[in-house]
Amino acid sequence: MAWDRQVTIKTSHELEIMRQAGRINAEALAAARAAIRPGATTADVNAAAEDVLRKYGVYSPFKNYPGPYPYPASTCVSVNEELVHGIPSKSRRLKVGDIVSVDCGTVYDGFVADSAFTAGVGELSETAQKLLEVTEGALKAGISQMKAGNRIGDVSFAIQQFVESRGFHVTREYTGHGVGRRMHEGPQVPNYGTPGRGMILRSGMTIALEPMVLVGTWQTRVLPDEWTVASADGSLTAHFEHTVAVTENGPVILTLLDGEQGGT
Ligand code: MF3
Ligand code: CO
Repeated sequence: MAWDRQVTIKTSHELEIMRQAGRINAEALAAARAAIRPGATTADVNAAAEDVLRKYGVYSPFKNYPGPYPYPASTCVSVNEELVHGIPSKSRRLKVGDIVSVDCGTVYDGFVADSAFTAGVGELSETAQKLLEVTEGALKAGISQMKAGNRIGDVSFAIQQFVESRGFHVTREYTGHGVGRRMHEGPQVPNYGTPGRGMILRSGMTIALEPMVLVGTWQTRVLPDEWTVASADGSLTAHFEHTVAVTENGPVILTLLDGEQGGT
């Protein structure tokens, strides 16, 4: 069966396990964020996240993920025009003004959490600063639609509307996804859509919602390393992602630290 047709409903016990996966993942991402500074390499950022995963005795589902060749790292670290799937490298050094997207996954007790953020290195251009705010805002707008009884199109539309009304573009080529025992399950959740269309959200679904936003146009290209996806026009890009559970009490973000606010 194609991955995007396999939709699983989690029990409350399974949601507890995914919450723990999400907590660990949030700690790994916090360590990655702390490693972002001028002169650091994208490999340093990856190593900071990996140290946390190792401390908990868990691993990232990204490692060896099938593609053009097995994905070689635990995180994706994508700089500026690189939208997603940037491979951490000892030769890519960060400098003031860069924006850095870090995407990490955690497998804990058989369940996956998947989350990403974009952060700046030092002072940013006005456009870069706005891009970060709009992309994070789009994630919140999407999450707020993740109520049982709503449809995927309601979530997708909220993301698209938030981004396009602020003058930026959403990817047409990469989507959010269900997540559970596998990193990629159904349903697919595009970053654009039509309200009232698509699968109905049910309590117990868990979805990795991930707006990927580009300043210039929605088009992308894959770089010669065959993994890194960049904007076709070289314009700046950003990516925020949370793993979110649909519950009777509304959306619950699983990939936060204890006490951290998702801000929905
Ligand atoms: N968050 C990304 C996704 O949902 C991470 C996958 S990167 C890979 O697709 F390396 F694992 F492919
Ligand atoms: Co994802």
